[in-house]
Amino acid sequence: MHKQPVRTIHWLGGLDGACEMIDQTLLPGEVRMLRVTDVETMWQAIKRLSVRGAPAIGIAAAYGVVLGIRDSESVEDLLVDLKETTDYLATSRPTAVNLFWALERMSAVAQANAGLPLEELKLRLLAEAEAVREEDAAMCRAIGRHGQSLIAPGNGVLTHCNAGGLATAEYGTALAPMFAAHAAGVPFRVFADETRPLLQGARLTTWELMQAGIDTTLITDSMAGFVMSQGKVDLVITGADRIAANGDAANKIGTYSVAQLARVHNIPFYVAAPSSTFDLSLANGSAIPIEERGAEEVTEGFGRRTAPAGVKVYAPAFDVTPHELIAAIITERGLVQPVNEHTVRAVIEG
Ligand code: MRU
Repeated sequence: MHKQPVRTIHWLGGLDGACEMIDQTLLPGEVRMLRVTDVETMWQAIKRLSVRGAPAIGIAAAYGVVLGIRDSESVEDLLVDLKETTDYLATSRPTAVNLFWALERMSAVAQANAGLPLEELKLRLLAEAEAVREEDAAMCRAIGRHGQSLIAPGNGVLTHCNAGGLATAEYGTALAPMFAAHAAGVPFRVFADETRPLLQGARLTTWELMQAGIDTTLITDSMAGFVMSQGKVDLVITGADRIAANGDAANKIGTYSVAQLARVHNIPFYVAAPSSTFDLSLANGSAIPIEERGAEEVTEGFGRRTAPAGVKVYAPAFDVTPHELIAAIITERGLVQPVNEHTVRAVIEG
């Protein structure tokens, strides 16, 4: 059984406890846990990517709701505090739909249980947040089982950004088939794109894969095409932040380029994501909100200026891969293949 080196995010204690998460901004240099006890700090933790990756952001949002209502003095107050908290947390990051999915789930549970005594209602919401985390862990394991057979002995697998245990409750989405194949004794190697500008691939994906004992090679984003042309990549697996009804998938900036390169080189491009990452209210990817990040992440990332002061910068954090470029979406319910609105709805709604 795959054992993750540290827990990504969890709740410590009872209602008066805290949310504990690994501060991902410090990895791989330092493994430091961050205790979050108020909503403002949770918003900051999401915004600055201390906790990141679509499913992990959803879990953080659910715990954030608990932090926002635990001091409410009546059920009426609780419902007001809950609305204020969800409205606020919803402004932290726009692209990963898991954030909104978790906030809506917590609100629905509060509404449905508003007849309970105050303390019971609070405990019910804490239990729901725990369920969000536990269900995510189970979905990731199932994604691993469904995706494992896509990796054949001797394959080279390329991934972009980090869709591993750090981006989820544990185990990951894109990395789950890799962990499962590795556990089954399948020999393969992984090429991890560095993932400019915040280096989730270099800092996080290689860290996770190496700790699992998987053969890992780091490349810069611009090397992916050449490595493919050399015949070293047999398949690509990435995660997703939001998948529209037709299967168009938003993921970390650079994913679209990788998908195009994979098409040109006749390499299957797979997306791995739980059902909580699907947004069936959007017909296609053009309506997915794309987060823009601060210029300094590009011009002076990690404390060193690498571009002239005052230069104009455009910094979208995500891009959208059209469904035509995706060979299959690996979900906890099985594979969506081929990828189109009919197959997406059949797997996710069916
Ligand atoms: O900006 P980030 O680091 O939150 O972006 C993360 C990604 O793009 C992941 O690939 C995606 O959230 C899937 S995580 C299982």
